[in-house]
Amino acid sequence: MICLGIEGTAHSIGVGVVNDDDGKCRVFSNLIKIYRPEKGGIHPREAANHHAKYIADLIKESMEKAKICSNDINLVSFSMGPGLGPCLRTAATAARALSLSINKPIIGVNHCVAHLEIGRGTLDDCNDPVLLYTSGANTQVIAFAEGRYRVFGETLDIGIGNCLDKFGRNVGLGFPSGPKIEELAKKGKQYLKLPYSIKGMDLAFSGLLTAAGQYYEKGESLEDICYSIQETTFAALTEVTERAMAHTEKNNVLLGGGVASNKRLREMVQIMAEERGASFFVPTRDLCIDNGAMIAWLGILMYKSGIRLKVEGSFIDQRFRTDMVDVTWRD
Ligand code: ATP
Ligand code: FE2
Repeated sequence: MICLGIEGTAHSIGVGVVNDDDGKCRVFSNLIKIYRPEKGGIHPREAANHHAKYIADLIKESMEKAKICSNDINLVSFSMGPGLGPCLRTAATAARALSLSINKPIIGVNHCVAHLEIGRGTLDDCNDPVLLYTSGANTQVIAFAEGRYRVFGETLDIGIGNCLDKFGRNVGLGFPSGPKIEELAKKGKQYLKLPYSIKGMDLAFSGLLTAAGQYYEKGESLEDICYSIQETTFAALTEVTERAMAHTEKNNVLLGGGVASNKRLREMVQIMAEERGASFFVPTRDLCIDNGAMIAWLGILMYKSGIRLKVEGSFIDQRFRTDMVDVTWRD
């Protein structure tokens, strides 16, 4: 079964074509275009205009790259939420138009669950992981328990990527700042104390963001501040992930989201996994960031488990929570 998936929850518009190969996900193509504002944060309507401008070409190019024609597509899927309303609507409209024009079924999927399922679908032996999902807007620890994907811990304020990008913007690093902070952190020599906020299983980063800004104003070395931000936030993320693994008794841990590119974060989670005798997994970067292939793959899982959606009912849901999804494709 071949599915074309459209992702458009935030500043990326992505189209992926995947095939179901005996229960494993084969990615035929996975193209992404990222909206980068000249300055400041994302304006939802401008991001949506960007997506509208590129979506038709992306669909065409992703089919060419996958070496398929529209007749080969069995299913169209799109990101239903959570995300920014105008962006979600643009992706959903493109999916509806495609589904109607090629007369193939449509499925709407939860973006966060897609980040987890693409790991299970593409990585051998990653069967039942705890996902540490760290991106710009999202920071969640997700695992399957009692028939649903449940959020065991999450940020109470901003996402970790957002925290890195905001600090970077304030000190002139430009967007996205995550990779630049990673480079600077390598040269850090001294740990500067920062607030380590874990509340129960949840996290908060805005206090740390303020404190890091104050160190910068006081003239502390940017390298030391970047090093300290990474050590503090990543330790907190790793701690919550470990607690979720202990609680659910799972022995797979999976990373997802753009911040999963960070080598120090990978290292910390990997050490934690090794110490527990657990296995560590991280998909390739193009499958970690927001992408159409993960949306396509979850579409296939849902469709094959009997879920059907009418074009008339293919709404978006800006606040689509991970635990609202009825997981019909797992035992
Ligand atoms: P979502 O809508 O799922 O929240 P998103 O559109 O914000 O996602 P992603 O593409 O998954 O984003 O991730 C982007 C984030 O990843 C940015 O905040 C960026 O700074 C961060 N990032 C990218 N590379 C690195 C890195 N090497 N280290 C730390 N952060 C990184
Ligand atoms: Fe995402």
